[in-house]
Amino acid sequence: MIIVNKIKLRDKRLADALDDYIWRTDAELVRLDAAPLLTTTFPRYLSDYADELRSSSIRHRFAVETLDGKHIGNCSYYGIDETKGEAELGIMIGNRDYWDKGYGADTVTALISYIFHQTNLERIYLKTLDSNIRAQKCFQKCGFTPYGHLDRDGFNFVLMEVNRKQWQEQQPKT
Ligand SMILES: CC(C)(COP(=O)(O)OP(=O)(O)OC[C@H]1O[C@@H](n2cnc3c(N)ncnc32)[C@H](O)[C@@H]1OP(=O)(O)O)[C@@H](O)C(=O)NCCC(=O)NCCS
Repeated sequence: MIIVNKIKLRDKRLADALDDYIWRTDAELVRLDAAPLLTTTFPRYLSDYADELRSSSIRHRFAVETLDGKHIGNCSYYGIDETKGEAELGIMIGNRDYWDKGYGADTVTALISYIFHQTNLERIYLKTLDSNIRAQKCFQKCGFTPYGHLDRDGFNFVLMEVNRKQWQEQQPKT
């Protein structure tokens, strides 16, 4: 369990499946995420979800909860390249009631801290739609800086990164 300000990160569990299904079949959310709209039925999704929880996935996923235990989103890191010392970060605050209130920034802060404390990775990067100003603002608040653009599959992305040294320099001195 990782706690930063207003959020907790915890391991994913089967009880998250319904929220995740609702968010992955929400047209606005998947558009903001440049992801495909899920078309499978919930029973099928649940069965695949259970299989994935049992397998040792190479994607490290966490549920995002409020301090009183409400599941509001997910975050993850994946595409781990030990040679380059880097991984990609993903986040979705699926519950719109929690947008623009700092929950995303707390989540990203928690995940960056977890990665730099628990792994040897030196760099975390992400891509977000260049039209998604909310996401870019959120990531900038957490220390990410833009380093380029990517056009892929008809989407225009901003690429952002944070490296360990830069992140350490930004931490409050104790
Ligand atoms: C993107 C996301 C993670 C950000 O989390 P969040 O909790 O909403 O973000 P935060 O409140 O930490 O920060 C958002 C900032 O953007 C600002 N903002 C929002 N919309 C804005 C706009 N149109 N123009 C300028 N600033 C804007 C907010 O005011 C806030 O800044 P502030 O703290 O200085 O007031 C979350 O909204 C989300 O998951 N959205 C749906 C899915 C999505 O966009 N996924 C893409 C992720 S790559």
